[in-house]
Amino acid sequence: MAKLAAYSFLLSCLLVVFLCSISAVTDEDKKEYIVYMGSLSSRADYTPMSHHMSILQEVTGESSMEDRLVRSYTRSFNGFVARLTKAERDKVAKMEGVVSVFTNKKLQLHTTMSWDFMGLKEEQKTKRNPTMESDTIIGVIDGGITPESQSFSDKGFGPPPKKWKGVCSGGKNFTCNNKLIGARYYTGEGTRDPDGHGTHTASIAAGNAVPDISFFGLGNGTVRGGVPAARIAAYNVCTDKGCPSDAILSAFDDAIADGVDLITISIGGVRRPFESDPIAIGAFHAMAKGILTVNSAGNNGPFELSVTALAPWILCVAASTTNRGFVTKVILGNGTTLVGKSVNPFDLKGKKYPLVYGKSAASSKCDAETAGLCDPSCLEKSRVEGKILVCDDANGLKTAKSVGAIAVIFHSPIPDVAVVVPLPASGLGMEDFESLVSYIESADSPQAAVLKTETVFNRTAPVVAYFSSCGPNALARDILKPDITAPGVEILAAYSPDGEPSKHDPRRVKYSVLSGTSMACPHIAGVAAYIKTFYPKWSPSMIQSAIMTTAWLVNATDKILGRTSTEFGYGAGHVNPIAALNPGLVYELEKADHIAFLCGMNYTSDVLKVISGENVTCSEKNETLPRNLNYPSMTYMYLDSDTDSNFTVTFDRTLTNVGTPSSTYKSTVVAGYGSKLSVSVTPSVLSFKTVNEKQSFRVTVIGGNLDEQVPSSANLIWSDGTHNVRSPIVVYA
Ligand SMILES: *[C@@H]1O[C@H](CO)[C@@H](O)[C@H](O)[C@H]1NC(C)=O
Ligand SMILES: *[C@@H]1O[C@H](CO)[C@@H](O)[C@H](O)[C@H]1NC(C)=O
Ligand SMILES: *[C@@H]1O[C@H](CO)[C@@H](O)[C@H](O)[C@H]1NC(C)=O
Ligand SMILES: *[C@@H]1O[C@H](CO)[C@@H](O)[C@H](O)[C@H]1NC(C)=O
Ligand SMILES: *[C@@H]1O[C@H](CO)[C@@H](O)[C@H](O)[C@H]1NC(C)=O
Ligand SMILES: *[C@@H]1O[C@H](CO)[C@@H](O)[C@H](O)[C@H]1NC(C)=O
Ligand SMILES: *[C@@H]1O[C@H](CO)[C@@H](O)[C@H](O)[C@H]1NC(C)=O
Ligand SMILES: *[C@@H]1O[C@H](CO)[C@@H](O)[C@H](O)[C@H]1NC(C)=O
Ligand SMILES: *[C@@H]1O[C@H](CO)[C@@H](O)[C@H](O)[C@H]1NC(C)=O
Repeated sequence: MAKLAAYSFLLSCLLVVFLCSISAVTDEDKKEYIVYMGSLSSRADYTPMSHHMSILQEVTGESSMEDRLVRSYTRSFNGFVARLTKAERDKVAKMEGVVSVFTNKKLQLHTTMSWDFMGLKEEQKTKRNPTMESDTIIGVIDGGITPESQSFSDKGFGPPPKKWKGVCSGGKNFTCNNKLIGARYYTGEGTRDPDGHGTHTASIAAGNAVPDISFFGLGNGTVRGGVPAARIAAYNVCTDKGCPSDAILSAFDDAIADGVDLITISIGGVRRPFESDPIAIGAFHAMAKGILTVNSAGNNGPFELSVTALAPWILCVAASTTNRGFVTKVILGNGTTLVGKSVNPFDLKGKKYPLVYGKSAASSKCDAETAGLCDPSCLEKSRVEGKILVCDDANGLKTAKSVGAIAVIFHSPIPDVAVVVPLPASGLGMEDFESLVSYIESADSPQAAVLKTETVFNRTAPVVAYFSSCGPNALARDILKPDITAPGVEILAAYSPDGEPSKHDPRRVKYSVLSGTSMACPHIAGVAAYIKTFYPKWSPSMIQSAIMTTAWLVNATDKILGRTSTEFGYGAGHVNPIAALNPGLVYELEKADHIAFLCGMNYTSDVLKVISGENVTCSEKNETLPRNLNYPSMTYMYLDSDTDSNFTVTFDRTLTNVGTPSSTYKSTVVAGYGSKLSVSVTPSVLSFKTVNEKQSFRVTVIGGNLDEQVPSSANLIWSDGTHNVRSPIVVYA
């Protein structure tokens, strides 16, 4: 008896301990994981939600899934988000039908003149197809939108196109109209844009033409999107802390099913295998439904391998300058003029004020370096008040006003970009900044004037922006990324009056100036939509090919801010929307080609079966070497450690005639950058008799002595005298 009692006491104790330890796990060690399960089964009796529940029940042993299942993807692809322990995660990953399980990482949000600059001029009566344009719906996955903006007014718009299956579910204080036809949100309280980014990108892609727009008088002109008559559906996936992967996947799940024609997403930041990257997953299922996804390259340039958006079913966009630049001059007391950059509408009427360098305005408790950066904890108001503060970086802009500075002159780490400033200010490049400092140190009473910003015509454009992320491709090393470059510097477009135009800026504006690959991405989405209005049946790959093969040739340039700009910066070149309407020939890719490419990337048949929802057998016969994917650019990474030795590499491609029925194209090869490549093409002439006819060819590249610092390139051009179908060929060591 006593024994038994002791035993049961022990037992209940154990039970308590066991329970305690379980709840300890529950509270501390559960994390949100995304469980990606590929395509939706087309079986009539398949209900994804109950499948997700049964997987979770099996793994957790619990009966209620209430605090486990966060959300399910059930409309355009299959998967769910659940709160799991590490052990449960491992179990789920091994279950049948599960492609990948990954953490819910947060991604980051990464224009008047720009359309004219690209050749889509309104005053020259750009060819348009208004009926088709108003049938086109662009899905904008971003940080929300400002529904009241004039750029999204529905004056003159009829009801949404019949194919639209979405909703207006924008949450608090949000109404749609016949221009902004859809709204959803997956974070926060609604689809309203709190900071301006989503409003800006949406208006670049498809905003109405709105005349006489400027930033306090700067950049005055008509602001408009690429396809002003198109409709917009906004999907808010961000908060001020970032854009969670599970929200991005939800937005793709909905946008595809809602019936958008095209998706633009200026978000990025994970470089994970395709099956664990929310944008690559979403874009794959979009592609399978005939929807092109355009994604920004990222703002982590100019470093090698910094580009994200690496999948061949995504159109990846770099950012470059336009010929409209903002300059802000600084006139020193000794008469010398320094040309800096900023968006500064404040007019101090040329009056000179005393200069004070952060280093000498600091209290004694700060070291020289922190003081030079104008750290707020260092500055002494008595030494700054009424003067122009000089700082080693842009940080000083945030606090200068609070210590009574009249203006700021700062060393700009990105001297090719003008940023909006909250008080009179100019950013100088290294050389000019050094002469400013030497002037301050040598003059008896140094002073200067910061002038109002002037708009200048810049002949040296387009140039890939210093911040724009660069190749090569870290995942598929034989696929060139970025694909294309488009305007992304100093773009004036719609903005949210709820956001600040710059940090610590009390002004509120409806239009503002931003720079980033975020701004370049919707330019390409606008061009893609423009093409689709003329060729509604074209697949994503045909549109991508048309944009890439008709791009303006950008020459590699030495030493832009100390680095070389090559195809790794601009891909096929700078977008040319008018030429893209008439490419002549296109490189087509279907879902099966992407699957064969993934076979070549060593994905297994089993995994690809789940992803694609089709029978897949990766066999040597039909797996495609990544470099033989029918892509509009040709890239090869030469792996041999001995870069002096010669190599021979071939690329197989097939062109589809979308131009003149009976046409003959001759190939020519133009040398590019780096080591000399010897390129031959067989056959060297392609004859087409009908539209949609396909012809194949092989490109053989022989080279040696590869430059290890830069890629070596050439251009293959197929020409019938009217169309020039150009592909960059890039080889790197
Ligand atoms: C709704 O938003 C608009 C625009 O930001 C604002 O003016 C208005 O006060 C808001 N209304 C409510 C009820 O919050
Ligand atoms: C600039 O703005 C003013 C109105 O503020 C307008 O009258 C003028 O035509 C604009 N200039 C251009 C080039 O659009
Ligand atoms: C003004 O001072 C700067 C820096 O010391 C110097 O480079 C420049 O030549 C001076 N200009 C004149 C006109 O003396
Ligand atoms: C013109 O553009 C080039 C390339 O971005 C830049 O280096 C230069 O500073 C610009 N010039 C002006 C006057 O803005
Ligand atoms: C690129 O270089 C070629 C050959 O040097 C030249 O003919 C062409 O004008 C250049 N293009 C541009 C846009 O600078
Ligand atoms: C796939 O595996 C083969 C054999 O192991 C290897 O040679 C090849 O480099 C791999 N391909 C990729 C893209 O990793
Ligand atoms: C896939 O292949 C299996 C076995 O070859 C066959 O039974 C099945 O019908 C195929 N499914 C599809 C969707 O083609
Ligand atoms: C590869 O070929 C096999 C047999 O010819 C076929 O069953 C399979 O569907 C093909 N796979 C792909 C990805 O095309
Ligand atoms: C490499 O190619 C170059 C030019 O085609 C040729 O002159 C040279 O002999 C080759 N070197 C080797 C080691 O084959």
